Amino acid sequence: SQTVSRDEDGVATVGGIDVKTLAEEYGTPAYVLDEADFRARARAWRAAFGTDADVFYAGKAFLSRAVVRWLHEEGLNLDVCSGGELATALSAGMPADRIAFHGNNKSKEEIHRAITAGVGRIVLDSFQEIVRVAHIARELGKRQRVQIRITVGVEAHTHEFIATAHEDQKFGIPLAGGQAAEAVRRALQLDSLELIGIHSHIGSQIFDMSGFEVAAHRVVGLLKDIRDEHGVELPEIDLGGGLGIAYTSDDDPREPHEIAKALTEIVSRECDAAKLRTPRISVEPGRAIVGPTAFTLYEVGTIKPLDGLRTYVSVDGGMSDNIRTALYDAEYSVALVSRTSDAEPMLARVVGKHCESGDIVVKDAFLPADLAPGDLIAVPATGAYCRSMASNYNHVLRPPVVAVGDGESRVIVRRETEDDLLRLDVG
Ligand code: LLP
Repeated sequence: SQTVSRDEDGVATVGGIDVKTLAEEYGTPAYVLDEADFRARARAWRAAFGTDADVFYAGKAFLSRAVVRWLHEEGLNLDVCSGGELATALSAGMPADRIAFHGNNKSKEEIHRAITAGVGRIVLDSFQEIVRVAHIARELGKRQRVQIRITVGVEAHTHEFIATAHEDQKFGIPLAGGQAAEAVRRALQLDSLELIGIHSHIGSQIFDMSGFEVAAHRVVGLLKDIRDEHGVELPEIDLGGGLGIAYTSDDDPREPHEIAKALTEIVSRECDAAKLRTPRISVEPGRAIVGPTAFTLYEVGTIKPLDGLRTYVSVDGGMSDNIRTALYDAEYSVALVSRTSDAEPMLARVVGKHCESGDIVVKDAFLPADLAPGDLIAVPATGAYCRSMASNYNHVLRPPVVAVGDGESRVIVRRETEDDLLRLDVG
């Protein structure tokens, strides 16, 4: 993850800049993102999969125009799942043919815009959408490249809200009961669709490779059925994202080359056995690229020791900049970064400034007992699904994203202002 070191005064530095300087310059809370680390991770994914596969960064994890440019430069493609993400990608110059458009309920306007822009693929998520996309493509006089997202029926071992391949949930078309085969049949009949492959995304924050392997096995099984029924060998499969990252020292993430090796081996082995041409593989990592590259810098405001329980440490942000603890019971670590301390560790809970008791950033953490208002603390691994899921709850202003590297820093997403808030309020 980010290389954070300490200068001679014990102040943490990242990308050659110390956190006190960052706090003075940009205020707190702030997301501090290490550009070199982001690029290195993107490159590692690219290298792991080589030229026979495509890596689509999942923009939902965190998207901004700077990020789109970095991805473009590093040779990655982009997965978007809304008109807003599509607009961001296009406005930062991502070639449309390197964009995949996802979502279980894309609006007609979104589909229209995606096809007009010329996105490389639309991932179809339902029977209605097969017809809807075909219809809009026909009206536009285009033949749209599409994949069909299926649910392969595996249980990914992760939080219920972010597991997506078991059958009882909203995404994809079930493989079970022949539904996926029927979707393929319909898509193949529609001239305005070019069915290029099958898509599977089994969930998120996964460490165990076996779910991916079962998914790959079942997707290849469907390709074989399609060949047998239609005489067509679909040229691509997408195995989604979902690789877990280390939020705390208990997590032991797999490296991109491990997942690349496992997936390419299983796909080519099974295709050889079925005498199928090995399809081009693509993957969609989001969290694994951006998650570890940023931390959130907060200033401590109040400290409330509760006898026999723990000490509540309030920071100047909270569930509006990191909803993951409240929503998924996510675990984070935290460190004092504006100085070092030899004081005894105390059991602390880092909480935000919002008007509800579930507003917890770090549930249980040890911080030095001499922690004081004005100290800066940092919560690592907040690059994914924190700024992108940030809200204005309590009319709190969303923090900026500051990119650091080579001793320089710059804002890539600025802090929200009260003017921004009031601009939307037109009543
Ligand atoms: N591809 C598809 C089709 C997806 O739905 C997702 C995530 C990804 C790729 C990227 O997954 P990743 O590599 O980032 O795990 N807000 C939740 C995560 C929701 C993930 C939604 N889809 C969280 O904060 O944990």
